Amino acid sequence: MKIIVTGGAGFIGSNFIYYMMAKHPEDKIVCYDALTYAGNLETLENAMGNANFKFVRGDITSRAHVEAFFAAEKPDIVVNFAAESHVDRSIETPDIFLRTNILGTGVLLDCCRKYGIKRYHQVSTDEVYGDLPLDRPDLFFTEETNLHTSSPYSASKASADLLVQAYHRTYGVPATISRCSNNYGPYHFPEKLIPLMIANALADKKLPVYGTGENVRDWLYVEDHCVAIDLILRKGRVGEVYNIGGHNERTNLQVVEAILQELDKPASLIEFVEDRKGHDRRYAIDPAKIHEELGWVPATSFDAGIRKTIQWYLAHKCWWQNILSGDYQKYYERMYGKRTKLEYAK
Ligand code: NAD
Ligand code: DAU
Repeated sequence: MKIIVTGGAGFIGSNFIYYMMAKHPEDKIVCYDALTYAGNLETLENAMGNANFKFVRGDITSRAHVEAFFAAEKPDIVVNFAAESHVDRSIETPDIFLRTNILGTGVLLDCCRKYGIKRYHQVSTDEVYGDLPLDRPDLFFTEETNLHTSSPYSASKASADLLVQAYHRTYGVPATISRCSNNYGPYHFPEKLIPLMIANALADKKLPVYGTGENVRDWLYVEDHCVAIDLILRKGRVGEVYNIGGHNERTNLQVVEAILQELDKPASLIEFVEDRKGHDRRYAIDPAKIHEELGWVPATSFDAGIRKTIQWYLAHKCWWQNILSGDYQKYYERMYGKRTKLEYAK
C-alpha cells in the first residue's frame, strides 16, 4: 500500500507518519509538503532513513506539480493534512486559507479522479460546526450538526469538506472525512495555546489568555487522532463523516493552570488580554459513531497527555527554540504586542 500524506511536516501529519511507520511498517509513505512556516523537516528527521519513507516538497495548490507527483507515485491512498491551520492567522490574512484549504483540496480531488485511488481522506475539524453555548453542557457536535462557521479558517475547512462530499457524489471519488477536536502533543507549533503557554512559562514570560479564559476546548492527545484516522482508512465506510473527540473538555484557564502547576510556575504569569475576534465559545464532540462503528476509544486522558506533552517539550528544547528564534518573534510581536491587557481578579 502506498500512502501519500500531504502536510506531513506539520504537527498532526508528522505524528501520523510516525504512527503508521510503527504500526504498518510494510506500507510505503510519501510525504508531500510545501514547508510553509508551519512545516519543519527537523520534525521528520527520524523518518528520513526509513526505506519505506520519502519526502517530496510541493504545494497542493500547484496543479501541474501535484499531477506530475501523482503520475509518478501512483498512490493507493491520500490523506490530506495540508492546510493553513491557525485561526488567529486566518483573521489577519484570510486569502492564503482560501487558497490552500479550498483550492488545494480541489486540486488533490481532481488528481484522485484522474489517476484513480482507493481512498481519499480529508482531515477536517470540529470547527466546521461553529460553537456551542457555555451554559448547555448537554449539547455536543454530532455528524448531523449543521455546518455553521465562525472564522475564515473554519469557513475554508467547511468549504473543503463540501468539495470532498461533492466529488464523492458526483464523480464517485472514494472519500471519507474526519472532524476532530483540538489536538495536543509532540511537534505542536508554538503559536497554538498549549505549546505557547509551555514555552512562555519556561521563559517566565506572561501567558496571554484571551478574554476571560472561559472558552472550552475538547482536547485529544494527537496519537489518539492518528489511531482514529488509521481505523477510518481501513474500516470506515466510504462517503461517511466521522467525528473524533474524547470528552476531555477544559476551559482555557484550566489548561493554562495545569501547565503552570506541572512546571511549578506561579499563577501571576497569567495575563488576560483582548479577546480573539469571533471567538468560538465551546467545542465538544460526540464520538458515538466512530466508537460504535469502528470501536475507537481514546487511550490517553488529559492529565496523562498534558504531562507527556510537557515532558516532550522539556526533552526537545532545540526543536521549539529553533522555531522561536526565527520569524516567529515578528509574528508574536504582531499578534500580542499591541493587544490590550484586561484586568480581572484571578
Ligand atoms: P500544521 O499547521 O501544524 O501543519 C500544516 C502542514 O501543512 C505544514 O507542514 C505545512 O507546511 C503544510 N502545508 C501548508 N500549506 C501547504 C500547501 N499549500 N501545500 C502543501 N503543504 C502545505 O497543522 P496541524 O495542526 O498539523 O493540522 C493538520 C490538519 O488537521 C489541518 O488540516 C487542520 O485543519 C486539521 N486539524 C487540526 C487540529 C489541531 O488541533 N491542530 C484539529 C482538527 C483538525
Ligand atoms: O478544534 C480543532 C481546531 O483546534 C483546529 O481545527 C485548529 O487547526 C487548531 O488550531 C485548534 O484551533 P483553536 O483556535 O481552538 O486552537 P488555539 O490553540 O489557537 O486556541 C485554543 C484556545 O485558546 C482558543 O479558545 C483560543 C485560546 N488562546 C489561544 C492562544 C494562541 C488563548 O487564550 N491565548 C493564546 O495565546
